[in-house]
Amino acid sequence: METTLIILKPDAVQRGLMGRIISRFEDKGLQVVGAKFMKISDELAATHYADHKERPFYAGLVGFMTSSPVLVLALRGNGAIAICRSMMGATFGFKADAGTIRGDFGVSSSFNLIHGSDSPDAASRELGLFFSDGEVLDWARPGDAWVYDMSSGSPE
Ligand code: RTP
Ligand code: MG
Repeated sequence: METTLIILKPDAVQRGLMGRIISRFEDKGLQVVGAKFMKISDELAATHYADHKERPFYAGLVGFMTSSPVLVLALRGNGAIAICRSMMGATFGFKADAGTIRGDFGVSSSFNLIHGSDSPDAASRELGLFFSDGEVLDWARPGDAWVYDMSSGSPE
């Protein structure tokens, strides 16, 4: 099972889209194992987006991410990282396919609603940035017996 870091960005929170976006992930079968409603500090935004520090959009990106509260989620499932990235859609709403979160809910290139870790290394690093020990919970969902075929001993 993989765990990935999702951020419902300030525009998703302000537009009242949190519930609808979380429902998409729950409908898919992913499990919420961590959740934190918070205002991201300048320092945390800078660390999270350090790879983009030299990019022209960096200052605007940090300003946006720190402008208003966000909802940070840890989502777990078999292949959760790639599943979330494909459900999010392409970076810019005006290019993202219909059926994706960015494609269905946005048109902007700056306000793109959601962040998702793009690799196992990024997920591990980002989960560590936003969640402390004990804040990501292992909990059993009886319904998972009908989400995954466990007859081989691992989720299929
Ligand atoms: P994210 O990291 O937020 O999940 O988004 P992403 O992987 O789809 O896109 P990434 O390339 O990592 O870019 C991070 C965020 O920077 C903003 N951006 N603006 N104006 C531009 O050319 C540009 N490119 C990227 C977006 O807000 C993007 O989510
Ligand atoms: Mg990215």
